[in-house]
Amino acid sequence: KKVRIKVPATTANLGPGFDTLGMALDLYMWIEMGVADKTAVHLIGDQMSGLPTGKSNLVYQVAQQVFAKAGVEHPELEISMYSDIPLTRGLGSSASAIIGGMAAANALIGSPLSDDTLFQMATALEEHPDNVGPALFGGLVVAFWDGARAEHIRVEPDDRLEALVAIPHFELLTEKARQVLPREQSLANAVYNVGHSSVLVAAFCTGRLDMIAGAMKDALHQPYRAPLVPGLSKILAEATDHGALGVALSGAGPTMLALVERGSSRKAELEAFLLGTLKDEGIEATLMWLK
Ligand code: HSE
Repeated sequence: KKVRIKVPATTANLGPGFDTLGMALDLYMWIEMGVADKTAVHLIGDQMSGLPTGKSNLVYQVAQQVFAKAGVEHPELEISMYSDIPLTRGLGSSASAIIGGMAAANALIGSPLSDDTLFQMATALEEHPDNVGPALFGGLVVAFWDGARAEHIRVEPDDRLEALVAIPHFELLTEKARQVLPREQSLANAVYNVGHSSVLVAAFCTGRLDMIAGAMKDALHQPYRAPLVPGLSKILAEATDHGALGVALSGAGPTMLALVERGSSRKAELEAFLLGTLKDEGIEATLMWLK
């Protein structure tokens, strides 16, 4: 018996929602899993070259966690993975692998674990729910994790929105982009982000696209990460002058995400602004329009 799972890329934070907001994107990873005599992990395509092909592979490891939780033993697995999600770029590829691996393992043994259980296990692994949430539930996910339990609400993304991602051609490890964040923050910064994140979620829920630009601003992480992503400060400050409804660093970066109204006549202008700004900093990047 074999199962095949398709799992989306995700963009976390959406600006102010650090570790709490995330959205699924229509860019995918596929994982096929079956019980085998001897473990083998096949990595198909270029996106995953360099990843481990044995039992240290993340997908194998999370599958074993699912089996342990369900009280089932399947020590040997044949796993094939294909992905269109670039690694270490801020598009949640590790969360997609965790959710894909857990969902595939659960399906392989007849789905004894609930989605909520998978969500709790995946969040505990990542230590924040903002990528694994939308990877598992889809759409826009508003979530928190208190160290013991994660709670979430899924919101339907507005049909009128499209996302343009600018993916720089360099890697940035999440760990490194978290190390630059101060351990302590001011009350003023906390209030700033609670307000902006709350208004952003309310704007998504009520269709107030006009409020997105102002609400997507952040004081907790992007200012500290800007030195790691040349061009980010200018893009955050000016993308809305070039046709974006809002703009943010995607997850821990280096990818940047602009939200755009679907029928916008300014898409070419925004594309040129993003590529031009990055080019001035000596950074090559790939643009992708996603839903
Ligand atoms: N919320 C996380 C961060 C997402 O910004 O570090 C990246 O995994």
